[in-house]
Amino acid sequence: MKVLVIGSGGREHALAWRLAQSPRVSRVLVSPGNGGTANDPDMLNVPGETVADWVRIAQQEAVHLTVVGPEAPLAAGVVDAFRAAGLRVFGPTQAAARLEGSKDFAKQFMLRHGIPTARSSTFEHAAPAHAYIDAEGAPIVIKADGLAAGKGVVVAMTLEEAHRAVDDMLGGSLGGAGSRVVIEQFLAGEEASFIVMVDGQHVLALASSQDHKRLLDGDQGPNTGGMGAYSPAPVVTPALHGRIMREIIQPTVQGMAREGLPYTGFLYAGVMIDAQGNPSTLEFNCRMGDPETQPIMMRLKSDLTVLLDHAIDGTLDQVEAEWDRRTALGVVLAAANYPGTPRSGDVIDGLGVDTETTRVFHAGTRLVDGAVQTAGGRVLCVTALGDMLKQARGRAYERAEGIRFAGRQMRTDIGWRALAAPVRH
Ligand code: AMP
Ligand code: GLY
Repeated sequence: MKVLVIGSGGREHALAWRLAQSPRVSRVLVSPGNGGTANDPDMLNVPGETVADWVRIAQQEAVHLTVVGPEAPLAAGVVDAFRAAGLRVFGPTQAAARLEGSKDFAKQFMLRHGIPTARSSTFEHAAPAHAYIDAEGAPIVIKADGLAAGKGVVVAMTLEEAHRAVDDMLGGSLGGAGSRVVIEQFLAGEEASFIVMVDGQHVLALASSQDHKRLLDGDQGPNTGGMGAYSPAPVVTPALHGRIMREIIQPTVQGMAREGLPYTGFLYAGVMIDAQGNPSTLEFNCRMGDPETQPIMMRLKSDLTVLLDHAIDGTLDQVEAEWDRRTALGVVLAAANYPGTPRSGDVIDGLGVDTETTRVFHAGTRLVDGAVQTAGGRVLCVTALGDMLKQARGRAYERAEGIRFAGRQMRTDIGWRALAAPVRH
């Protein structure tokens, strides 16, 4: 059977690769895809950029099921359109995707359902926002209400930065996404990505993961979409896993159902774990993480099409996911000038050959006359498996070092927190 993956990033390449491993799958269509999915004989890139395009592709190609990678098509209602056309799709409806699409909606929802999250207040006007910041003090966190492609959060260490962020966002620096701002208490601690599959009622937790959001070594420099990730995350102990399920995930899924917005799709809770080990919700994403998906897919042993079929049919309680016991770690190679306006068109050399233990997932790449060029901010994610994190990391960096393009940016310390953790990994 054919399956369709919507999107063009590293997350989508990793999903497409795992789907292609299924004996049930004859071809993975990726729309629009990237240079890596174009090069893979099991995959076929199909041009498409609107909900109508994807509905047409799924119908014309008799696609068995569709997985939606990024948030924008979900917020545009791709799941609603597929269902209306009688097509099988995994993702949240437009209404349920507001958990990610509006920070204010998510905050109000968490408040209604007693889900732990930082104290906050929402503003549409500058004067009361400034007064709130002065009353609360710094550090403090300013978030644009709407989708801002990873640019909507400012963790302000000083009052001056906080005031400036409010003026910028309410002044239109992010367009409509910033016409409302959520101002939130700063939380200290360690972050983890907790990603589950939801069928409206039941939850299947995926393996834990952590990413590194800052551009530079030592978690310094500007925020990015993520410069590397690994799975499992040692900070998510079995006890903490249980608490996150009981205190965050279950109440969210039950709350959405009770409010008439049953949640289906991947649900990603960004969780901050404080020094006492208490989890608090930083954000919800209504999709998988990028680059977390890359190490998670390296470790998934179950047939992803089977999990997705159960999720679409509302029977996730009847299935379990099996994971490789090894650790997977992915290092992102980013283009010159990322996360600003990345440069495109640099030729990539030394991509090498994938093996059972190392694999290069493409993101911002394109094929030009058979050569792979940069075509976006995060270009590649070099992902490796190892018996321990150290080995996975060594393999990923060994392969990454050999991949060259002008202006390449790469952190050299992905996984440092997990390496420093007291438990075996
Ligand atoms: P978000 O898009 O909400 O995940 O925010 C991006 C990043 O900002 C998060 O991954 C955190 O590193 C940081 N962040 C968000 N909210 C807070 C908070 N309340 N306290 C501290 N850091 C935060
Ligand atoms: N890596 C963070 C995200 O996907 O939002």
